[in-house]
Amino acid sequence: MAHDDIEFEIEDIGSNPAPGRRFEEIAAARFSRRAALMGASALAAAPAISPAGAQTPRTGGPSTLAFQDIPHQLAQTDAVAEGHEVQVVIRWGDAVLAGAPAFDPARQTPDAQAKQFGQNNDFLAFMPLPRGATGSDHGLLWVNHEYVSTASMFPGLPAGLRNILAAKTELQARTEMMAHGGSVVEIQRKDGKWAPVPGGRMNRRITAETPMRISGPAAGHERMKTSADPSGTQVLGMLNNCAGGTTPWGTILTCEENFNTLFGGGAATTGAQAAAYRRYGIRAQSAYAWERFEPRFNLDREPNEPNRFGWVVEIDPFDPASTPIKRTALGRFKHEGCTHAIAPDGRVVFYMGDDEMNDYVYRFVTARPWNRENPAANRDLLDEGTLSVARFEDDGKLRWLPLTFGEGPLTPANNFHSQGDVVIEARRAADLLGATPMDRPEDVETNPVNGRVYVMLTNNSARAADRLNAANPRPRNIHGHVVEIIPPGAGTPGVDHAAPEARWEMFLMAGKPGIDAGARYHRATSESGWLSCPDNCAFDSKGRIWIATDGAPSAAGVADGLYAADTAGAGRGLTKLFYQAVVGAEICGPCFTPDDTTLFLAIQHPAEGSTYENPSTRWPDFDPALPARSSVIAIVKKGGGAVGS
Ligand code: FEO
Ligand code: CA
Ligand code: CA
Ligand code: CA
Repeated sequence: MAHDDIEFEIEDIGSNPAPGRRFEEIAAARFSRRAALMGASALAAAPAISPAGAQTPRTGGPSTLAFQDIPHQLAQTDAVAEGHEVQVVIRWGDAVLAGAPAFDPARQTPDAQAKQFGQNNDFLAFMPLPRGATGSDHGLLWVNHEYVSTASMFPGLPAGLRNILAAKTELQARTEMMAHGGSVVEIQRKDGKWAPVPGGRMNRRITAETPMRISGPAAGHERMKTSADPSGTQVLGMLNNCAGGTTPWGTILTCEENFNTLFGGGAATTGAQAAAYRRYGIRAQSAYAWERFEPRFNLDREPNEPNRFGWVVEIDPFDPASTPIKRTALGRFKHEGCTHAIAPDGRVVFYMGDDEMNDYVYRFVTARPWNRENPAANRDLLDEGTLSVARFEDDGKLRWLPLTFGEGPLTPANNFHSQGDVVIEARRAADLLGATPMDRPEDVETNPVNGRVYVMLTNNSARAADRLNAANPRPRNIHGHVVEIIPPGAGTPGVDHAAPEARWEMFLMAGKPGIDAGARYHRATSESGWLSCPDNCAFDSKGRIWIATDGAPSAAGVADGLYAADTAGAGRGLTKLFYQAVVGAEICGPCFTPDDTTLFLAIQHPAEGSTYENPSTRWPDFDPALPARSSVIAIVKKGGGAVGS
């Protein structure tokens, strides 16, 4: 979600005092330390990160990525590096389930939308078919539908969010509920073209009303009970699922982010849980007015309903009859994604970001190793383990602080009476532990080649100059940066993602070199290689990072893009622009097939900021009768081969 256009954003109550230090001093210390750690030979090959300036023409420099980077643009059409082809795989409104009617934007209904592809696709996962296979031509595509863009979704709306909310009809609200959630779509590449398989038997739509189970420490907790669910163990739907991840046992993890925007009511400020609502950004005025039609979104009617959102949801995409499960052991916050790595002893480690200004990076380590031979043994592995939050020390050390009831400040003295309390109010628990307030953590993902973990910090316009820390060294950080976590043993087969400590380094500081204070890139970065607002990321099988952006400076004529860079060697940190989305769109969900020959992207909210009647683009159909439509695309190399090679 492009947060800026919700009037409504999101306050920061992160309360960890941070030392005031001059930016240049801090940044210089962290980059020079990185260089020193690389050793003399690496230094000779890669003096790498340079301060602002030092631009060279578009040559590719020492990058191992062979594609010619493209110039920045802001246009009604998208652009991809030469030699590649963009295929539209599926669009908002396309059929997912049998009986779905053809998309008719002037006559949308909840019933139709519940069978059609939802809006604003975000996280993507490609799961080869049959289950357990590793092929790259046929599989299930999991897709998050994060939220809806009401203003460009329905014809005939008044101008301005408040007027739209006041005029919203029940039919519109219920259609919006069905446009949320996720989709499972069977897809296949035939004659070089990706397309949905008609009638795919595992196809599924998850919506705001799909029955789900609640498991883990918060299941059955008093604060999880509602009049519809006195057990506190059953909930309808998932909301604002942004990014996600997978498990080694082949399930999907899909993560609830800005659920707060969907609740409203006077209890936000006056109710018994007002302080907790406030810490999660829940306000009296929702951004969608669903509470007018559905009592569970009204805080005055169901004060506990928002406690049932903000979780990581596990879904088996291969079984359309399976019940999705909210895994509360992984904590409640505005989850971006949840990606896994495996510790040497077989325990599974999940990295997570809480996307809010001055919120935190988390990790969950399962109590037991996963079982490769017996999938049933992994069924409830996510219900037991240790949730921790990161403290990035200024000296380059990272400590994982456990959120464990009864330890440190997480006791009845601070109104924590169980692990259920701790996970429901994970943010407050992390505040008390002294976690490091970050510049909006989005994806946190492990590089499969070097074992390092990359944290996309998208931006933080509220970062005050007297609240800098070494891992967030820039005041009013509107362009974001990327931090690299280096667990013990990174670069060896024994990388220990479950260790209590790690080291960290700065990978890049975004913004335009020479213009934006503090921008730091490889010295050979081209005129269009700089980026702003890193959000989602992926790694190809050579360990190169592909960074998708959300919030490029359109005033400077730059749309959101996908940038690729080496993470090691002479081209480390040399970002190159590979794909640029249409005006108004954010790029989400980068996902490679196992053989790297296809890169899937979720193009979210094209034409954002304009209206249904007068959209800034009608991508991807360019049909005057159709609005812009969020869509999943596949990028392939013409003539075959690995994308970007
Ligand atoms: Fe939905 Fe953090 O982006
Ligand atoms: Ca998004
Ligand atoms: Ca995101
Ligand atoms: Ca974002």
